[in-house]
Amino acid sequence: MALVSFIDFGNEPAYTVEELRRIYSGDQSNWPAPHLDPEAREGFRDIGKLGKMEYPADNPYSKEKELLGKTLFFDPRLSLSGQIACATCHDPELSWGDGRRVSYGHDRQTGKRNAMTIINTGYYHTFFWDGRSPSLEDQAQFPVQDKVEMAQSLKAMVKNIKAIKGYKPKFKEAFGSDEVTLEKIQKAIATFERSIVSNSSRFDSFVSGNPKAMTDMEIKGLHLFRTKARCINCHNTPLFSDNKFHNDGQALYGSKMEDFGRYHLTGKQEDIGAFKTPSLRETALTGPWMHNGNFPSLKDVIEFYNLGNPSPIQRHVTVDETKRPIPSPLLRKLNLTLEERQQLEAFLGAISTRTQRMAPPELPQ
Ligand code: HEC
Ligand code: HEC
Repeated sequence: MALVSFIDFGNEPAYTVEELRRIYSGDQSNWPAPHLDPEAREGFRDIGKLGKMEYPADNPYSKEKELLGKTLFFDPRLSLSGQIACATCHDPELSWGDGRRVSYGHDRQTGKRNAMTIINTGYYHTFFWDGRSPSLEDQAQFPVQDKVEMAQSLKAMVKNIKAIKGYKPKFKEAFGSDEVTLEKIQKAIATFERSIVSNSSRFDSFVSGNPKAMTDMEIKGLHLFRTKARCINCHNTPLFSDNKFHNDGQALYGSKMEDFGRYHLTGKQEDIGAFKTPSLRETALTGPWMHNGNFPSLKDVIEFYNLGNPSPIQRHVTVDETKRPIPSPLLRKLNLTLEERQQLEAFLGAISTRTQRMAPPELPQ
């Protein structure tokens, strides 16, 4: 445990809540230093207000493209059954997730993973829990073909959309010609997804200079988040995600739900059980939590981190040492009191906003 003695945060001044309120709602350069381990410093950016969404040069924003993408996103005719749309599992009324541990897809089959919200998804560098897709354009083809999701071939999907006359003018408005192609479908859906971003949260208002925007509990939670509770080591940047992969002790090695995550792409032992750090914006509304949806409440998530890394390995399997998941050394016992755990949970509420309703588009015939 050399690390622990190397970084000693024991002499931190104890702030009153009035001091914390003044400091955190003021100039960010005066914030207390975050408790970061050396391995978390590379590429570190502190939490704060989200910047403007960036659109790739080969798929710039247009209102028409966003609208076409929205229509496709809500259209169940992208699926083999004609019953399952992207919005079935990414439902705006459920904060763009589906509120389930794992999703129901084609023929009511279930996969192994929890449907991620698509709010703020345009800010990530890679997509899916294991980061197997490099762009939103690329990502959009996976759920269509996935046997337990929409179960449709890309060719048949494009053919079906082509056959719907009402789509032609929409493709023309968005792309200048009414030809329907897979690439245009991907680009339109990605453009729509980039338009789904959080409203300004109470945290955003607070750090922009409104000291009344957060309660005492939430402010104490914010400070804990950046210091004693160590969340900032991974949930950093204005997205509250470092865009990296960590083993959070959730590989469930040897169980039916075993999922090695990023390892399936890289084959490296250090990636066994590593998943993308999810953004915590809107997290109060996107349960159940973790890649497997195994945590039914935020209290459970916080308690899990507080215990430091139990990482259970099923007893009935013989452990193959080369396949043993190695939980992140950034996780350790936190010794948070009940009050501190409640403050942390309150802070997660301050980075969540109210569910936005979105009227589904009219589907072309
Ligand atoms: C049957 C449910 C289901 C359907 C239908 C579905 N998704 Fe998903 N979506 C998921 C699940 C589950 C994940 C996480 C899968 C994983 O990580 O392996 C996911 C992940 C994603 C992500 C990654 C988000 C991130 O932050 O990395 C995006 C983007 C996305 N889906 C968009 C779409 C689009 C676009 C469609 C329609 C073409 C769609 N989904 C259809 C369940 C679904
Ligand atoms: C070692 C890096 C790391 C640290 C430290 C960390 N997290 Fe996480 N967090 C992750 C990863 C990775 C996941 C996804 C793990 C999985 O699903 O297997 C995650 C998942 C979560 C989730 C579930 C989000 C969702 O959409 O399902 C919440 C909530 C969360 N963390 C809150 C916290 C809080 C609060 C702290 C501080 C007490 C914290 N995290 C500390 C990396 C970290």
